[in-house]
Order: sequence, then C-alpha cells, then structure tokens
Amino acid sequence: MTDRYAVIGNPIGHSKSPLIHALFAQATGQDIEYTAIEGPPGQFAHAVDAFRASGGRGMNITAPFKLDAFGYATERSERAQLAGAVNAMKFEGERVLADNFDGVGLLRDITHNLGCPVKGKRVLLLGAGGAARGALLPFLAAQPAQLVIANRTLEKAQDLAAQLAAQGSVTGCGYQSLGHQPFDMVLNATSASLRGELPPVPASVFAPDCLAYELAYGKGLTPFLRLAQNAGVQQLADGVGMLAEQAAEAFAWWRGVRPDTRAVIEQLTLPLA
Ligand code: ATR
Repeated sequence: MTDRYAVIGNPIGHSKSPLIHALFAQATGQDIEYTAIEGPPGQFAHAVDAFRASGGRGMNITAPFKLDAFGYATERSERAQLAGAVNAMKFEGERVLADNFDGVGLLRDITHNLGCPVKGKRVLLLGAGGAARGALLPFLAAQPAQLVIANRTLEKAQDLAAQLAAQGSVTGCGYQSLGHQPFDMVLNATSASLRGELPPVPASVFAPDCLAYELAYGKGLTPFLRLAQNAGVQQLADGVGMLAEQAAEAFAWWRGVRPDTRAVIEQLTLPLA
C-alpha cells in the first residue's frame, strides 16, 4: 500500500510542498502519496486524527498550525522545543514525533548551496519570532564567531539570547544599537517582507562580502534585499533553497533517503529583480 503524507495549513492552496515531495519521490523511487489538507480553524487535532486513521505516516505543518502541532506531539526534538513550533511530524503507532527542519534547511542552503561557511563568521539575525527561533540552534552549532539577534521588541531578543547563552556567543539588541559593526551574513527572519515593510536596519551592517538572506520565498526583491543591494551587497538570496532543504530533511526523516535538492530549487526559483 502506498504510504501517505500531507501538508496541513490554512490557506494551503499556494503550498509548494506537494510538488516538492512528488519530485523527491520520483527522483528517489519512493512509493508515496503527498497531498495538501486545508485544516479548518480550531480543528487541527481532528483533521490530523482523521489523516492518521486513514493511514497517514507523516505531515508537514504550516501557518497557522505550527503551535497546535507542538501541542499535539508526544515527543519533540530540542530544536522544535526552542523554536516553540513544529513543521514536521512522524506517526509511529501512538507516538507522534515532532521536529522543526526550518533552521537546518536554512543552514544547509547557506553553507552547501550558496557556499558560505558559517564557522568564524559574524552573523546578524533580524527578528525574534517563530522563524528566527527555528534558525538559532542549528546556526549556533555551526560556530559563528558571533551571533547578534536584533528585534523591534528588545526584550524578546534579549530573552532569546539569554536562553542560548550556553550554546555560543549570542547577544540580543534593538535596531538602534546596530550600525557600528559590519556583519558577514545578515538574515531577515522578520515577517516585515510579507507586508512589503523594511525592518529598520542601517545599511552599515553589511560588510563588503556580506550575504543578505531573506527567509521569505518568492517575494522578489523585498525592501530588505533592495537595501542590501543599494549598499553594494553582491550575494542576495531568498528562502527558496531553505524551502527545498527543509523538505529534503523531512523526506529523509520519513523515508531514510535524502533527495538531491538541485532540480527542485531550479524549478522553484523566481527572479529576485
Ligand atoms: P514568524 O513566525 O514569521 O517569525 P512572528 O512569530 O509573529 O512571525 O514574528 C514576527 C517577527 O517579525 C517579530 O520578530 C517581529 O518583531 P516584534 O517582536 O518586535 O513584533 C518582526 N517584525 C514584524 N514586522 C516588522 C517590521 N515592520 N519591522 C521590524 N520587525 C518586524
């Protein structure tokens, strides 16, 4: 019998996950079916129970259900716990294993696909919400010289940095404290780009060989990327590689084989300009 997987969210019509996993399944010869489920508001557990009862083996979770999934799980990885959010689940009988592959996907895209090692680098992460939290543990494990979290609400950045103090050199600050020091990588993990807004980051944060990375995907040259471009940054990226890599991590977790992401990234890449 074909193993069943799905992504659940609301709305779900724009999800690329069914396409990505279909391409992975074809490339690796895995016999799976992967569909999209529009979860009714407030009915997350009911929808997942029904999917499991019909033979579902695993799920991806997207907005607005990442916190519901956290609560639904019976076991959560350390990085999912820090992120406070779950983007993948695996069902094993009564057990519901939960993980968050956004951070490892981002890290792999930067180091492997874009060829920018993180070790010894000065990294600036903008935002302290779910997207930023998901990125932190994998990034600190890659041993940057310094990781600065900047957030509009200072307290959230400071709390997050304090939580991670044992993992490496990490500090939290507000945007007004930036500008005195350049960074080798600036990652925009705020939700500002989704509304066409610019986080109030000074152009002086970009070092000459800086990588500017927008975690959002498919939004073209966002205000953040435009700021970086105007500041002379050569390496601009959006989250298409992160999207493909987090999917590959989930696929490997479920199926025991890690698909190559190149063809998927090529197919989904939209021009930044
Ligand atoms: P997500 O899950 O996408 O991270 P979130 O948890 O709501 O969403 O977090 C949104 C993040 O984007 C927060 O860090 C938020 O800053 P505050 O904590 O100060 O609210 C940040 N953000 C949203 N709009 C922003 C803007 N226009 N400028 C700067 N930061 C912004």
